[in-house]
Amino acid sequence: MTAQRKWQLWRTGVFLAALAPLVLWSGQVASNAAGPEPGRYLLLNIGLGGLWMLLLTLSLTPLTKLTRWKGFALIRRQLGLWTLAYASLHLLSYALFILGLDWAMLGSELIERPYILVGLLALIGLVALGATSNRWSMRRLGKRWKPLHKLSYPILGLILLHFFWGVRADLGEWTLYATASALIMATRLPPVARRLPRLRQRLISA
Ligand code: HEM
Repeated sequence: MTAQRKWQLWRTGVFLAALAPLVLWSGQVASNAAGPEPGRYLLLNIGLGGLWMLLLTLSLTPLTKLTRWKGFALIRRQLGLWTLAYASLHLLSYALFILGLDWAMLGSELIERPYILVGLLALIGLVALGATSNRWSMRRLGKRWKPLHKLSYPILGLILLHFFWGVRADLGEWTLYATASALIMATRLPPVARRLPRLRQRLISA
């Protein structure tokens, strides 16, 4: 098998793995296995799926530094776009199942649940990143591309705030995601980032 074919298979495998949860949840809703509130079931699961996608995307740079495996870098754009896809479907589930497409309800909803505005801000940020993740934008933006895409860090913060604000009772799950986010962000701190390649050397020689 040629190297190109191997990477193509890897990317297709990642695509199918990212699509699988959506197929699974839709199947559960279709077969009445999604509990008494299937719309809410979809909304919450897809929201969490979006957070997972963003965390996975942000893990790829430290993983590449640690392993030097090209495969991680090859799926960065794809997972970034999956984050946007999940976030958009989360908004769609909200519009369909919570608002029932009754846009007049939106005003009172925003007063009652202001965390929705925080989610919306995060989604706008994800759209900006998705729209500039192609080669043409990379070339046009040049040196500004990297700082722009570091917007993903405050976006992660907004999503955690949106999640925290929306959850009123059990904060255990939120704490797990916040801890994972803090660990992933810590790998970007210069003293930690510098040590990652050295850690790799140590792991190889151990
Ligand atoms: C367009 C803007 C958005 C709207 C209208 C929206 C709406 C909502 C609503 C209504 C909830 C349910 C809160 C509850 O009652 O427990 C929720 C939860 C959540 N949303 Fe969003 N959201 C938006 C953007 C986002 C984005 C961009 C993400 C991440 C990619 C996200 C991730 C989450 C997560 C992780 C939860 C908590 C799920 C859980 O409790 O299991 N949301 N959102």
